Amino acid sequence: MVDPMATENSRTPAPSGELAGRRAVVTGGSRGIGAAIARDLLDAGAHVVISARGEAPDAPPGAAFVPADLSTRDGVRHFADTARELLGGVDIIVNNAGGCRSFQSVLELENDWQYTMDINFLAAVRLNAALVPVMREHGGVVVHVSSIATVAAYPNLLHYAAAKSALETYSKGLSAELAPDGIRVVSVCLGNVETPASKTARTRIVELHGGDADDLTGQWAAEIPLGRLGDPRDIADAVRFLVSPRASWITGSNIVIDGGKTASLC
Ligand SMILES: NC(=O)c1ccc[n+]([C@@H]2O[C@H](COP(=O)([O-])OP(=O)(O)OC[C@H]3O[C@@H](n4cnc5c(N)ncnc54)[C@H](OP(=O)(O)O)[C@@H]3O)[C@@H](O)[C@H]2O)c1
Repeated sequence: MVDPMATENSRTPAPSGELAGRRAVVTGGSRGIGAAIARDLLDAGAHVVISARGEAPDAPPGAAFVPADLSTRDGVRHFADTARELLGGVDIIVNNAGGCRSFQSVLELENDWQYTMDINFLAAVRLNAALVPVMREHGGVVVHVSSIATVAAYPNLLHYAAAKSALETYSKGLSAELAPDGIRVVSVCLGNVETPASKTARTRIVELHGGDADDLTGQWAAEIPLGRLGDPRDIADAVRFLVSPRASWITGSNIVIDGGKTASLC
C-alpha cells in the first residue's frame, strides 16, 4: 500500500545549524533538485551561492544567484570566480546542473553529444578544477548528481547515460586523489524525481513517440517499488547528510536514490 503522505511523514529533522558558516555552491539551484538542495543547506546554516542560465523565481530566499551558462568554459570560470568572491572561500560544491534535452536514437544526436557532455560532465570537471584548490587548505565536500540512466539501458538516453557514467567514474577517481587533503567526493545516482525537467521530458517523449503524459507518469511510478516518483526533498535530505560531518567516513561512494527501482531490475 502506497502512503501518499510518505514524503511528509517519514522525515526526521536533521540537526539544525550543522552546516553553520559553511560556504556552499550549488549549480542549477534555481529550480527542481538543485533548489531543494540549496534550501536545505541554507536551513542547516550554510551560506549558499547558486547558478543557472535563466531567471530564478523559485530560488530559495537567502541564496545568492549568479547567472551563468555552465556548459561553457567561460560560464564556469565566471561562476567560480564570482562565487569565491561572494563567499570568501568554498567548503561544499554540489555539481547538480545537468539534464537531457533530446530523446532520440543516439544515431540522430550528432549535435547534442557535445552539449550533453559539457553540461553533465565537463561542467563539474571545470568547476572542481577552479574551486577545489581553494578547499585544499581546510578540507571540504564535493557532490556530483548522476542518474540511474548509467545502470540500465534506457532507450534514447545513451548520450546522457554516457555523460553521467563519465561523471560517476570521475567522481570515484577524484575521491582517491583528494582524500589526503581531507576532501570527500561522492555522487548520488537518482531515479525519477518529479521536477520541471521530468515534466518537460514527458511532454517531449510523448511528442516524439506518442502516448499520453499522464499515462507515462503512472508507468514510471509503477516501475518504482516504493510506488511513487521521488520528491526533490528526498534528494536534498540525502545531500544534506552527505555534506555534513555525520558523513565524515563516506567518500568515493555512489549512492543510489531511486525508490528501489534499480534493485528490482534483473
Ligand atoms: N529529475 C529527475 O528525474 C532526475 C533523475 C536523475 C538525475 N537527475 C539529475 O538531477 C539534476 C537536476 O535535475 P532537475 O530534474 O532538478 O532539472 P531541472 O528542473 O531542469 O533543473 C535544472 C537546473 O540546472 C540549470 N541548468 C540547466 N542547464 C544549465 C546550463 N547549461 N548552465 C547552467 N545551469 C543550467 C537549470 O537552470 P536554467 O535552465 O535556467 O539554466 C536549473 O536550475 C540534473 O543533473 C539531472 O541530470 C534528475
